Formats: sequence, structure tokens, C-alpha cells
Amino acid sequence: MAILVTGGAGYIGSHTCVSLLKAGHDVVVIDNFGNSYPEVLHRVEKIAGCTLINAPGDIRDREFVETVLKRYRCTSVIHFAGLKAVGESASRPLFYYDCNVVGTLRLLQAMRTAGVKKFIFSSTATVYGTPQYLPYDEKHPLAPESVYGQTKLAVEKMLEALRTADPEWSIAILRYFNPVGAHESGLIGEDPKGIPNNLMPILAQVASGRREKLTIWGNDYETRDGTGVRDYIHVADLADGHMAALKVLETAGCRTFNLGCGTGYSVMEVIRAFEHVSNRAIPYEIGARRPGDIGEFYANPVQAKEQLGWQATKDLRQMCEDMWHFQVKNPDGYNNSEL
Ligand code: UD1
Repeated sequence: MAILVTGGAGYIGSHTCVSLLKAGHDVVVIDNFGNSYPEVLHRVEKIAGCTLINAPGDIRDREFVETVLKRYRCTSVIHFAGLKAVGESASRPLFYYDCNVVGTLRLLQAMRTAGVKKFIFSSTATVYGTPQYLPYDEKHPLAPESVYGQTKLAVEKMLEALRTADPEWSIAILRYFNPVGAHESGLIGEDPKGIPNNLMPILAQVASGRREKLTIWGNDYETRDGTGVRDYIHVADLADGHMAALKVLETAGCRTFNLGCGTGYSVMEVIRAFEHVSNRAIPYEIGARRPGDIGEFYANPVQAKEQLGWQATKDLRQMCEDMWHFQVKNPDGYNNSEL
């Protein structure tokens, strides 16, 4: 009896694998390492002090997934595998639909054949689109503006239809806000291949001197200091959210939860917190707004608190500290294999 984790070598997947292993679960990882490194899984094992099963492969390969599910007698699936770069999703829409939508479809088909009907899905706050009110609760209208967000919404709808058609399915859709931070050991964290798009990994690279400066995309938003406001959430808290969601899978249904802190921080506030923690000045310049960016959004996380008994516990300082610790220990990301 095991839990299948797709994308288990990725940023959120790897932290969730640590939590699962520490809780005594058997873990099977399917990852194609398209945007991650096999080394991550060794580090997960090192932190957890036990081993997992690595089944390298692609979720779009239905027969392969089916074989893995059966061979390891998996009872549930936590599905992280997917692509998340908003800009790239506009230039490569078919690739995004193939990986995120077709990939999930093949995975669900394999699960149905193998008789596995418990599923946790990585969704995103991006499905809400421009806020009609804040904080976003789970009932907020859904109108994602990016191809990336549209692929996530397409899967959410597929899951709801599946559960309506077959009430035996038990599904949790988790809408993440802005995941940041790293494992406290400094062994695993976020190391995207290529140039990072997101604020925190860029900040860490600027503080360490790997990049020259940060460009703040717009300081003319209607926020307290004009820069964009987001609900940052520590990746370890997110991993705990998955552990809590696993428990509700015991009862059939399809439920959706925001996983956020419920507090927004501006880009300037994050820069100051990072400077404080790293004891380094962060050079920055003000640039134009990034196309498709929203000035401000944050979560109403009450539903997760009430129904999952989960809430975020780590503050912005902890997020920056762990992010910085990972950067210092891994100046070249996972290419440094000495750890
Ligand atoms: C972005 C994606 C979102 C995805 C999320 C994954 C876009 C438009 N949105 O969210 O769909 O789910 O990543 O984590 O890409 N910022 C700068 N300079 C930078 C980088 C970011 O000023 O170099 C600002 C942004 O304008 C924003 C804030 O920092 O105000 C956070 O940006 P980011 O980390 O990219 O997250 P989101 O834009 O919220």
C-alpha cells in the first residue's frame, strides 16, 4: 500500500514526499525530470531517513502509470507533475495542454483501470483571475487569464465531472497561493531549470550575487507602496496541507481548498525582509508592469482551517530565512552535488 506522487522531484512535490515519508507512508514517485533533478530524491531520502521508490517516467504514458499503480499497490495519488511558467504557456499552448490536461487525463484513466480513486490535485490561485473581491474565497468566480491557469481550470472541471459521474471518487483540489521557502535542512528548495520567473528565487540569486539586480515590475499599483501584493506561503506549510487533505480523502467527494496564509506582502516588503535575513543589500530597479500581472491578491483560508484542520504557521521571515539558507548551501542549485 503506497501513495503515488507525480512530480515528486519538483519543488512542492519533494517537500510533500518528505512529510509523507516521515509520517510512515510508502511513497512511489513518477517524475520525468523535465524540470527537476533525480538528485532531489536522494536528498528527500536523506532528510526523511528512509527510502522511496523512484519510477522514472511520464504521466502521459497511461500503461506505464497503470503498471506502477498496480505493482506498488497504490491507494491514492498526489498529482504535482505539470508545467507552471505563465509566459511560456502563451508561446507553447499545445505543450501546456498536453502536459497539464492530457497528462492528468491519462493519469486518471490509468487510476480508473487500476481501481485507485483517491486524488489530490495541485491547482493554483491563478484560476480566479482578476479579483472581483478580496480575499478570494473558493466561491470566487473563475476566469484565469493565462494559458497556464486555463489548463489548471480545465483539470478542475474534469475532476468535478468525474466525481459527478462516479461518486466513489474522492478528490481534493488545492489552490496554492505563492509557494516560497525551502526545507529547513537547506537540502531541498526551488531550483527551476533556466531563468526563474518568480520573485523569491530571483531575490535569492540577486542576494547571492548570481544575478546583478532585481527588476520590480511596476510600482504604480493601488497597493500600500505601489508594488504588487501576494499571499506568500512556506512550502513546508503547503506540504502539511497535503497531509491534511489526505485525511479528508477517506470520505468520497470533490472538495476545493485555498492554501494560503491570508496575508498579503508587497514586493518592497519582501525585499526588506530578505535584506534583513541575508544581511545583504538587494540592488533593484523599477520596471514596467509585467503583462498579465494583478496588483494584489490573497487568500481566504478559512475553509481549509475548518474542514482540513490546517493553517499556515510560518511567517515571512521564516520563508526568507529558509530560502536564503537553501541558496547559500546550493549556490549553483542542484548542480552542486556535494551535499
Ligand atoms: C506567478 C504566476 C502564477 C503562478 C505563480 C507560481 C504570472 C503572471 N503569474 O504568480 O500564475 O501560479 O507564479 O508561483 O507569472 N515580481 C517582480 N520582479 C520579478 C518577479 C516578480 O517585481 O522579477 C513581482 C510580481 O510583479 C508580483 C510579485 O513579485 O507582484 C510576485 O511575482 P511571482 O513570484 O512571479 O508570482 P505571481 O506573479 O503571483
